[in-house]
Amino acid sequence: LPSGVRDLLLSRITDVADYPKPGVMFKDITPLLADPKAFGALTDALVALAGQYGATKIVGLEARGFILAAPVAVQAGIGFVPVRKAGKLPGATLLQSYDLEYGSAEIEIHAEALCADDRVMVIDDVLATGGTAAASLELIRRAGAEVAGVAVLMELSFLPGRERLAPTLGDAPLDAL
Ligand code: PRP
Repeated sequence: LPSGVRDLLLSRITDVADYPKPGVMFKDITPLLADPKAFGALTDALVALAGQYGATKIVGLEARGFILAAPVAVQAGIGFVPVRKAGKLPGATLLQSYDLEYGSAEIEIHAEALCADDRVMVIDDVLATGGTAAASLELIRRAGAEVAGVAVLMELSFLPGRERLAPTLGDAPLDAL
C-alpha cells in the first residue's frame, strides 16, 4: 500500500479494549466503513490484488468480510460468493468444521457456487488464529475450484495465523494490507 493510504486506513481503525470479552483488544473498522475515501481506497487496493491473482470469483467471509468483499466484486466485475456460518444458506451446501480456542465452529458454502475453472480470491477483515480462513480454503477446494489468494485488511501478527494457514494455503499468496 502507498504510505498515505496505509496511514488513512490505520487512522480509521480504532482499538476497543476488553471487547467482546476481557483481555481482548477489538479492532473496530466501522469508522473506516463510514469514510468513503478510506473505504474506497481499501476497495481499490483489493481490486488491484484481485487483478494480480487473476481471480474469477470473490469469496467473502461472514460477516465483516462480506462488507469488504462485495464492492470489490462489483468493481472487478466478477461474482461474489458468501461463506456463511452454518445453517444460513438455503441450497445444498458443503460444511467445514474448525477448532476455536474453546470448542469449534462450522461454516458453509453453496456446493454449486464455484466451478472447476474458478480462481477464487478470499477476502476478510482480520486474520487472527487463521482457523476461519483455513476452513474457507478447504471449502473452496472441496467445491472444485482453485484458491487464487487470500487478502485481509489486518493480520494480528502476535498470533500464529499465518503459520496455521500455510499448509492449507500452499503456493497461493496471503496479503495483509
Ligand atoms: C472474525 C473475523 C474473521 C475471524 C478471524 O470473525 O472477522 O472472520 O474472526 O479469526 P480467526 O483467524 O481466528 O479464525 P467473527 O467470527 O468474529 O465473525 P463476525 O465477522 O461475523 O463477527
